[in-house]
Amino acid sequence: MKSRLCEICSIRVPLFLGPMRLVSTAPLVAAFCQAGGLGCLASAGLSEKRFRLEVEEIRKQTSSPFAVNIAWTTPGAQKVMAWCLAESIGVVISSAGCPEAGLSRLKEKGLTVLQVVANVDQARNAEGLGVDGVITKGYESGGLNARQAVASLPLIPMVADAVSIPVIAAGGIADGRGVAAALALGAEGVLMGTRFLASQECPIHPNYKEAILRGSDTDTIDAQFQRFSVRLWKNPTALNLSGEEPLWEAMADFSRGDDAINKVWSVGQVAGLITRCPSVQEIFEDIITGFREASSRLQKISSLST
Ligand SMILES: Cc1cc2nc3c(=O)[nH]c(=O)nc-3n(C[C@H](O)[C@H](O)[C@H](O)COP(=O)(O)O)c2cc1C
Repeated sequence: MKSRLCEICSIRVPLFLGPMRLVSTAPLVAAFCQAGGLGCLASAGLSEKRFRLEVEEIRKQTSSPFAVNIAWTTPGAQKVMAWCLAESIGVVISSAGCPEAGLSRLKEKGLTVLQVVANVDQARNAEGLGVDGVITKGYESGGLNARQAVASLPLIPMVADAVSIPVIAAGGIADGRGVAAALALGAEGVLMGTRFLASQECPIHPNYKEAILRGSDTDTIDAQFQRFSVRLWKNPTALNLSGEEPLWEAMADFSRGDDAINKVWSVGQVAGLITRCPSVQEIFEDIITGFREASSRLQKISSLST
């Protein structure tokens, strides 16, 4: 499995770890890079000191490149950009908008910028501003989504038709079949978040992982607010949220086991497909095997029809 993203991002396999606030930190990022993909450190919620410690720890555990996320609506995003430049980070996953000034500064300094987009206009705009690739974030995804989010199945080919830079598909993908489908739709890489919440190296309390392993296709809800929506694990707290402020107050601390039941936490629809919690390396091996099986199934179907 190769695409031009392997060269652009200096990786062996075009798989990307979704930045997840206070989850995509050194243990998970380094394991993902070691398996051959591009790990991404989530900067949201990190102090400068913690950011530098995480970067140092990742570099101790792997000599492979990794990315950092700048979520532009997060307080301190400009500071994170300065930290990335000071630490000579090679790749930025830019999300929650794409300010022209920030982008040109990153590009001037030679960084590779991958922009998260929710629709075709955003993808065209990002390409026009000079990003190196776009990440289509479908409605199925964990994390914050656009108010009028589009599902991955229509979003990936529409964006692939609209831009000539590489497209990375995110949202609703957790195995080799999903990766094969995304590549068939025109993506050249795949970014996953939820799949790696249930991995050995993911630094969250086991109660969250167990909930995901028990979860089904209908265990998440799309909670809509004035400026965005967020996909949450379905529990009484999530079902009774009354607004944006109560949402932030009710957010779980991923290190606390009781929060998995009593507070709100984000996870993608694809949780229903996840039944095991192996190491990151094993998940990569399963994905590659599943991708090959899906490809040969399609080849068989194609040869029957000729
Ligand atoms: C718990 C959690 C936290 C997230 N935090 C962030 C974040 O800080 N920044 C960001 O750009 N995306 C964030 N996301 C979105 C992921 O990076 C990724 O786009 C998404 O998980 C992909 O969809 P999937 O969950 O179906 O794989 C988060 C997702 C989850 C599940």
